[in-house]
Amino acid sequence: MTLPEGYSLRKLKESDYDNQYIDTLKVLTTVGEISSSQFSDLFKHWEANSSIYHPYVITNSVGSVVSTGMLLVEKKLIHGCGSVGHIEDISVASSEQGKRLGSTMVAHLAELSKELGCYKVILDCSEHNVKFYEKGGFKNEGVEMCKRF
Ligand code: ACO
Repeated sequence: MTLPEGYSLRKLKESDYDNQYIDTLKVLTTVGEISSSQFSDLFKHWEANSSIYHPYVITNSVGSVVSTGMLLVEKKLIHGCGSVGHIEDISVASSEQGKRLGSTMVAHLAELSKELGCYKVILDCSEHNVKFYEKGGFKNEGVEMCKRF
């Protein structure tokens, strides 16, 4: 998939704390007040576990983050010690929606999970996003169960 001119897909950087990363995630859900040091600690945790956490962003022509996405790779015992990819935290800034940034991010993370040897890639989404993921080749195969604490 091709991005609009001047847009790039890349791995998250620690400096993206000051580059709209958190604001972009706010279109998805409540983020809360995250300090720079909290972000740095989390970023370092992701980096120290980089075979599991694969955080990506898309930046626009002025370099600001306008889309986010995370692939988590879970190593399992079943399926001959197979791995499953989990796509999480897909967001596109409101003013940037409809430019195929979301579908490019999802396609990239799905392809990455395949390259990393996952036998499938899965995600949870709300009913109103089902068609978006179906357009990207995903199938609705179940029901999400959740217990909140
Ligand atoms: N329902 C149906 N179709 C949709 C939807 C939707 N909610 N959103 C996009 N589409 C369609 C587009 O019309 C387009 O269709 P086309 O190929 O026929 O032209 C196709 O899907 C691709 O759309 P994109 O331009 O790539 O979508 P966009 O960049 O706007 O990103 C997204 C879509 C990620 C859902 C964005 O609207 C967003 O950030 N929403 C708020 C946060 C959110 O709900 N994120 C997903 C959470 S689920 C998770 O993280 C695993």
